[in-house]
Amino acid sequence: MIDELLRIETDVLLRIGLADSLDAVKAVEADVMGKKGSLTDIKKGLGALEPDERRTVGLRVNDVRAAIEGAVADRRAELEAVARAARLDAERLDLTEVIGRAKRGHLHLVTQTRDRLEDVFVGLGFTVSEGPEVETDWYSFGALNIPPSHPARGMWDTLYLEHGAPMSTLLRPHTSPVQIRVMEQQPPPIYSVMPGRVYRRDTADASHMPVFHQIEGLVVDKGISFADLAGTLEAFTSAYFGGSITSRLRPSYFPFTEPSAEYDISCIFCEGSGCRTCAQTGWLELGGCGMVHPNVLAAVGLDAEEWGGFAFGFGIDRLALMRHGVDDIRELYTNDVRFLEQF
Ligand code: PHE
Repeated sequence: MIDELLRIETDVLLRIGLADSLDAVKAVEADVMGKKGSLTDIKKGLGALEPDERRTVGLRVNDVRAAIEGAVADRRAELEAVARAARLDAERLDLTEVIGRAKRGHLHLVTQTRDRLEDVFVGLGFTVSEGPEVETDWYSFGALNIPPSHPARGMWDTLYLEHGAPMSTLLRPHTSPVQIRVMEQQPPPIYSVMPGRVYRRDTADASHMPVFHQIEGLVVDKGISFADLAGTLEAFTSAYFGGSITSRLRPSYFPFTEPSAEYDISCIFCEGSGCRTCAQTGWLELGGCGMVHPNVLAAVGLDAEEWGGFAFGFGIDRLALMRHGVDDIRELYTNDVRFLEQF
């Protein structure tokens, strides 16, 4: 019987090691310990043995049983771990979109454009400043020579926040409030650009988004003239777009600049001869500019007799679209990897 037990033990431990599923382990277990199992048979036979022999064989049966139970538990744990790993693998979500090739991300086109604009202006001697996106009425309009009820408020479809007095807090509709903050924080001379996100109550279409980006420029110094404004924009134009592109200024109106102008560049596609993108005009409109209005200087306590300056502002998103010949601004924000990875 002892020999038989040894044979059972060796055989069963081998079978458990080879069992390749939880069901197979269970089957081996039943073969040994089940009602008609080999070990059960031996236990049944114990009663017919002499007391001494019964004790020896009985102890041995218990050892074999314990060894088998231990092996079953170990093998179960192994198989469960394998099954769990397989399940996790099957449930894993592939977020890379393109099968079989993982992708490395990169800066968004608008961020790249903003970075390049900053680089060019820093090269021209400007600093970079930032301001809050949630603004007060004073910084967004009042200090910029646009008192409440001024008809020019209609130029900015503003999103107001329910905070404080009605219409006192808003999402800035342009970066011009940062001009005021910069002038409050540092004495002139000031040569700074202010990039950032702006908000308007607009429905998204091919050329509008309720959230977009602008870069503002502000110079405050002694003896600044309109020629300095035109010269700075021309220097920026050739530094950013290349030497063959030039700029022009057209009379316009902004409450915070006087005189004011629209800033155009010669079409970057046809270089001025006329094409579809520039509607055959040879020019592309970039943004607004002008000489800082004396009331704006007064709002921050600067003496307009002593100091003068110019300001300009244009859309970063629009610039990115123009540069790459994209005709729908919404493309920038739908997050289609196939579009974004081109830049
Ligand atoms: N803030 C103006 C706008 O959003 C642009 C501008 C900036 C015009 C600075 C003149 C001077 O339309």
